[in-house]
Amino acid sequence: MKFFVDTADTQAISDLNDLGMVDGVTTNPSLILKSGRNILEVTKEICGIVDGPVSAEVVALEAEAMIAEGRKLAEIAPNITVKLPLTWDGLKACKVLSGEGKMVNVTLCFSANQALLAAKAGASFISPFIGRLDDIHLDGMELIQDIRTIYDNFDFQTEILAASIRSVNHVQDAALIGADVITAPPEVIKKLATHPLTDKGLEQFMSDWAKTGQNIL
Ligand code: G3P
Repeated sequence: MKFFVDTADTQAISDLNDLGMVDGVTTNPSLILKSGRNILEVTKEICGIVDGPVSAEVVALEAEAMIAEGRKLAEIAPNITVKLPLTWDGLKACKVLSGEGKMVNVTLCFSANQALLAAKAGASFISPFIGRLDDIHLDGMELIQDIRTIYDNFDFQTEILAASIRSVNHVQDAALIGADVITAPPEVIKKLATHPLTDKGLEQFMSDWAKTGQNIL
């Protein structure tokens, strides 16, 4: 499973990338706002840190303008993935941009039928938003499962990018179901390594080691 980091915080991306934990990055207008930086500058910096796909989202709502924005974003670096919303205009832009050989991530997906359309329009990635479905008491993981089944039934190559991941359980469930990628905030990825029994076990080992009076170096 690939790990994308859902942030425009270049320091956080760099720290996780040094650990080999970053296969790509996703951003959106809200994350650009949070970074306080210019979209073109910060996205270029991110593309310099990470080799894998870096999603940069258009903000136009009509297909022609989306295509123009997508082409401009794609000029930033070869690893840019143009992120488009799941609307008919977004799908039209997806068809055109993917036809030009650009990677496209179709975002704001909340149903299996939407995911089916994105695959047919040539999307490289589909982003179902797990946490936001959970927020309204729907089952985000059921959506991932349904998309997995549909894509496998028809051998679609579009990768399922589980987004709006808020917890370590989301990561595990998405991995078990067979999402191709998760994108999560840096804090969630860091939490994956923690377990209270790991902390407790380490504490016991350190305490016993101190009693041996030995040193390894
Ligand atoms: O990748 C999509 C993500 O940024 C949305 O997450 O937590 O705002 O629903 P959230």
